Amino acid sequence: MAIIAPSLLAADFLQLQKACDMLNGSQADWYHLDIMDGRFVPNISYGPMLVNFFRTATTKICDVHLMIEEPERYAEAFKEAGADILTVHYEACTHLHRNIQQIKSLGMQAGVALNPHTSVELLKDILQDIDVVLLMSVNPGFGGQSFIPHTINKIKRMREMIDEQLLHVKIEIDGGVTVENAQMIIDAGADILVAGSTVFKAADPTKTIAALKAI
Ligand code: DX5
Ligand code: ZN
Repeated sequence: MAIIAPSLLAADFLQLQKACDMLNGSQADWYHLDIMDGRFVPNISYGPMLVNFFRTATTKICDVHLMIEEPERYAEAFKEAGADILTVHYEACTHLHRNIQQIKSLGMQAGVALNPHTSVELLKDILQDIDVVLLMSVNPGFGGQSFIPHTINKIKRMREMIDEQLLHVKIEIDGGVTVENAQMIIDAGADILVAGSTVFKAADPTKTIAALKAI
Protein backbone atom coordinates (compact mmCIF):
# COMPACT_ATOMS: atom_id res chain seq x y z
CA MET A 1 0.00 0.00 0.00
CA ALA A 2 1.49 3.31 -1.09
CA ILE A 3 1.85 6.43 1.02
CA ILE A 4 -0.52 9.05 -0.41
CA ALA A 5 0.70 12.64 -0.24
CA PRO A 6 -1.80 15.16 -1.64
CA SER A 7 -0.20 18.41 -2.82
CA LEU A 8 -1.91 21.48 -1.33
CA LEU A 9 -0.77 23.52 -4.33
CA ALA A 10 -3.91 22.38 -6.12
CA ALA A 11 -6.25 23.34 -3.26
CA ASP A 12 -8.52 26.39 -3.27
CA PHE A 13 -6.46 28.85 -1.22
CA LEU A 14 -9.59 30.73 -0.18
CA GLN A 15 -10.76 27.54 1.50
CA LEU A 16 -7.62 26.09 3.02
CA GLN A 17 -9.31 25.18 6.30
CA LYS A 18 -11.77 23.09 4.32
CA ALA A 19 -8.91 21.43 2.42
CA CYS A 20 -7.13 20.58 5.69
CA ASP A 21 -10.33 19.22 7.27
CA MET A 22 -10.87 17.06 4.21
CA LEU A 23 -7.29 15.72 4.31
CA ASN A 24 -7.39 15.13 8.06
CA GLY A 25 -10.56 13.10 7.71
CA SER A 26 -9.23 11.14 4.74
CA GLN A 27 -6.77 8.30 4.25
CA ALA A 28 -4.08 10.74 3.11
CA ASP A 29 -0.79 9.96 4.85
CA TRP A 30 1.23 13.11 4.27
CA TYR A 31 0.71 16.76 3.38
CA HIS A 32 2.92 17.51 0.34
CA LEU A 33 3.93 21.18 0.45
CA ASP A 34 5.48 22.70 -2.69
CA ILE A 35 7.83 25.64 -2.23
CA MET A 36 8.78 27.58 -5.39
CA ASP A 37 11.08 30.59 -5.57
CA GLY A 38 10.58 31.94 -9.10
CA ARG A 39 14.27 31.20 -9.82
CA PHE A 40 14.82 27.46 -9.71
CA VAL A 41 11.35 27.09 -11.22
CA PRO A 42 9.34 29.67 -13.19
CA ASN A 43 6.65 30.04 -10.54
CA ILE A 44 6.32 31.32 -6.98
CA SER A 45 4.16 29.49 -4.44
CA TYR A 46 4.46 30.10 -0.70
CA GLY A 47 6.97 29.94 2.14
CA PRO A 48 7.50 28.90 5.77
CA MET A 49 4.62 31.00 7.08
CA LEU A 50 2.03 28.91 5.25
CA VAL A 51 3.87 25.67 6.10
CA ASN A 52 3.45 26.68 9.73
CA PHE A 53 -0.30 27.18 9.25
CA PHE A 54 -0.50 23.67 7.79
CA ARG A 55 1.57 22.38 10.72
CA THR A 56 -0.97 23.73 13.19
CA ALA A 57 -3.85 22.33 11.09
CA THR A 58 -2.69 18.70 11.06
CA THR A 59 -0.85 15.97 12.91
CA LYS A 60 0.01 14.26 9.59
CA ILE A 61 3.56 14.34 8.26
CA CYS A 62 4.48 17.60 6.53
CA ASP A 63 6.54 16.70 3.46
CA VAL A 64 8.16 19.91 2.21
CA HIS A 65 9.43 19.91 -1.40
CA LEU A 66 11.85 22.79 -1.94
CA MET A 67 12.04 23.90 -5.57
CA ILE A 68 14.42 26.71 -4.66
CA GLU A 69 18.00 27.76 -5.16
CA GLU A 70 20.34 27.88 -2.14
CA PRO A 71 18.06 25.70 0.03
CA GLU A 72 20.63 25.88 2.85
CA ARG A 73 19.51 29.45 3.50
CA TYR A 74 15.99 28.29 4.40
CA ALA A 75 16.38 24.82 5.97
CA GLU A 76 16.20 26.20 9.51
CA ALA A 77 13.13 28.31 8.75
CA PHE A 78 11.28 25.28 7.40
CA LYS A 79 12.30 23.23 10.43
CA GLU A 80 10.90 25.95 12.69
CA ALA A 81 7.76 26.05 10.56
CA GLY A 82 7.23 22.36 11.32
CA ALA A 83 8.54 20.38 8.34
CA ASP A 84 9.09 16.67 9.05
CA ILE A 85 10.74 15.88 5.71
CA LEU A 86 12.75 18.41 3.73
CA THR A 87 13.52 17.60 0.09
CA VAL A 88 16.03 19.59 -1.95
CA HIS A 89 16.71 19.37 -5.68
CA TYR A 90 19.88 17.68 -6.89
CA GLU A 91 20.11 20.37 -9.59
CA ALA A 92 20.05 23.17 -7.01
CA CYS A 93 22.80 21.83 -4.72
CA THR A 94 26.51 22.14 -5.50
CA HIS A 95 27.32 20.56 -2.14
CA LEU A 96 24.46 18.11 -1.82
CA HIS A 97 26.07 16.07 0.94
CA ARG A 98 26.42 19.19 3.05
CA ASN A 99 22.74 20.06 2.44
CA ILE A 100 21.73 16.57 3.58
CA GLN A 101 23.86 16.85 6.71
CA GLN A 102 22.29 20.20 7.53
CA ILE A 103 18.73 18.85 7.15
CA LYS A 104 19.50 15.85 9.34
CA SER A 105 21.29 17.86 11.99
CA LEU A 106 18.15 20.00 12.24
CA GLY A 107 16.21 16.82 13.04
CA MET A 108 14.31 16.35 9.78
CA GLN A 109 14.28 13.49 7.30
CA ALA A 110 16.16 14.32 4.12
CA GLY A 111 14.95 13.92 0.56
CA VAL A 112 16.59 14.54 -2.81
CA ALA A 113 14.50 15.39 -5.87
CA LEU A 114 15.51 14.80 -9.49
CA ASN A 115 14.15 16.65 -12.50
CA PRO A 116 12.94 14.52 -15.43
CA HIS A 117 16.25 14.88 -17.31
CA THR A 118 18.49 13.97 -14.37
CA SER A 119 19.76 10.38 -14.24
CA VAL A 120 19.06 8.31 -11.13
CA GLU A 121 22.63 6.98 -11.38
CA LEU A 122 23.86 10.33 -10.04
CA LEU A 123 22.46 9.43 -6.62
CA LYS A 124 24.53 6.26 -6.21
CA ASP A 125 27.01 7.79 -3.77
CA ILE A 126 24.50 9.68 -1.65
CA LEU A 127 21.70 7.09 -1.36
CA GLN A 128 22.94 5.75 1.97
CA ASP A 129 22.59 9.22 3.51
CA ILE A 130 19.00 10.01 2.56
CA ASP A 131 15.48 8.94 3.47
CA VAL A 132 13.53 9.76 0.31
CA VAL A 133 14.24 10.05 -3.42
CA LEU A 134 11.67 12.20 -5.19
CA LEU A 135 11.47 11.58 -8.92
CA MET A 136 9.75 14.41 -10.77
CA SER A 137 7.40 12.95 -13.36
CA VAL A 138 6.69 16.42 -14.80
CA ASN A 139 8.89 19.48 -15.08
CA PRO A 140 8.63 21.22 -11.70
CA GLY A 141 6.82 24.52 -11.37
CA PHE A 142 3.18 23.80 -12.02
CA GLY A 143 0.45 21.36 -11.07
CA GLY A 144 -1.87 19.78 -13.60
CA GLN A 145 0.71 18.53 -16.14
CA SER A 146 0.84 15.09 -17.78
CA PHE A 147 2.95 12.23 -16.43
CA ILE A 148 6.19 11.72 -18.40
CA PRO A 149 6.19 7.97 -19.34
CA HIS A 150 10.01 7.55 -19.16
CA THR A 151 9.71 8.05 -15.37
CA ILE A 152 8.67 4.39 -15.14
CA ASN A 153 12.17 3.30 -16.27
CA LYS A 154 13.72 5.65 -13.72
CA ILE A 155 11.60 4.20 -10.90
CA LYS A 156 12.62 0.65 -11.83
CA ARG A 157 16.32 1.53 -11.94
CA MET A 158 16.11 3.48 -8.67
CA ARG A 159 14.42 0.51 -6.99
CA GLU A 160 17.26 -1.77 -8.17
CA MET A 161 19.89 0.64 -6.88
CA ILE A 162 18.23 0.89 -3.45
CA ASP A 163 17.79 -2.87 -3.19
CA GLU A 164 21.37 -3.57 -4.36
CA GLN A 165 22.66 -1.41 -1.49
CA LEU A 166 20.19 -3.03 0.97
CA LEU A 167 18.77 0.38 1.89
CA HIS A 168 15.30 1.52 2.94
CA VAL A 169 15.15 4.76 0.98
CA LYS A 170 11.60 5.53 -0.15
CA ILE A 171 10.77 6.45 -3.75
CA GLU A 172 8.32 9.33 -4.15
CA ILE A 173 6.70 10.18 -7.48
CA ASP A 174 5.56 13.74 -8.08
CA GLY A 175 3.57 15.07 -11.03
CA GLY A 176 0.72 13.84 -13.18
CA VAL A 177 -0.26 10.98 -10.88
CA THR A 178 -3.83 9.79 -11.54
CA VAL A 179 -6.06 6.96 -10.34
CA GLU A 180 -5.46 5.41 -13.77
CA ASN A 181 -1.64 5.42 -13.81
CA ALA A 182 -1.04 4.81 -10.08
CA GLN A 183 -0.94 1.01 -10.42
CA MET A 184 1.79 1.15 -13.07
CA ILE A 185 3.83 3.57 -10.89
CA ILE A 186 3.53 1.34 -7.81
CA ASP A 187 4.36 -1.79 -9.82
CA ALA A 188 7.56 -0.10 -11.01
CA GLY A 189 8.63 0.29 -7.36
CA ALA A 190 7.28 3.58 -5.98
CA ASP A 191 6.44 3.93 -2.27
CA ILE A 192 4.89 7.40 -2.17
CA LEU A 193 2.46 9.04 -4.59
CA VAL A 194 2.05 12.83 -4.66
CA ALA A 195 -1.27 13.89 -6.16
CA GLY A 196 -2.38 17.49 -6.63
CA SER A 197 -5.00 17.98 -9.32
CA THR A 198 -6.17 14.37 -9.16
CA VAL A 199 -7.25 14.91 -5.55
CA PHE A 200 -8.28 18.55 -5.36
CA LYS A 201 -10.02 18.85 -8.73
CA ALA A 202 -11.99 15.65 -8.12
CA ALA A 203 -15.73 15.78 -7.45
CA ASP A 204 -15.07 13.78 -4.28
CA PRO A 205 -11.48 14.28 -3.03
CA THR A 206 -11.88 11.96 -0.03
CA LYS A 207 -13.04 9.11 -2.25
CA THR A 208 -10.24 9.78 -4.72
CA ILE A 209 -7.67 9.51 -1.92
CA ALA A 210 -9.31 6.25 -0.85
CA ALA A 211 -9.12 4.98 -4.44
CA LEU A 212 -5.39 5.79 -4.61
CA LYS A 213 -4.85 4.17 -1.24
CA ALA A 214 -6.66 1.00 -2.33
CA ILE A 215 -4.31 0.40 -5.28
C1 DX5 B 1 5.13 20.43 -9.32
C2 DX5 B 1 4.95 20.04 -7.87
C3 DX5 B 1 3.93 18.99 -7.67
C4 DX5 B 1 2.57 19.35 -8.16
C5 DX5 B 1 1.81 18.09 -8.48
O1 DX5 B 1 6.18 21.29 -9.45
O2 DX5 B 1 6.16 19.59 -7.30
O3 DX5 B 1 3.89 18.55 -6.33
O4 DX5 B 1 1.84 20.12 -7.25
O5 DX5 B 1 0.61 18.44 -9.09
P1 DX5 B 1 -0.16 17.44 -10.03
O6 DX5 B 1 -0.46 16.21 -9.21
O7 DX5 B 1 -1.38 18.21 -10.40
O8 DX5 B 1 0.73 17.13 -11.19
ZN1 ZN C 1 6.08 18.55 -5.24
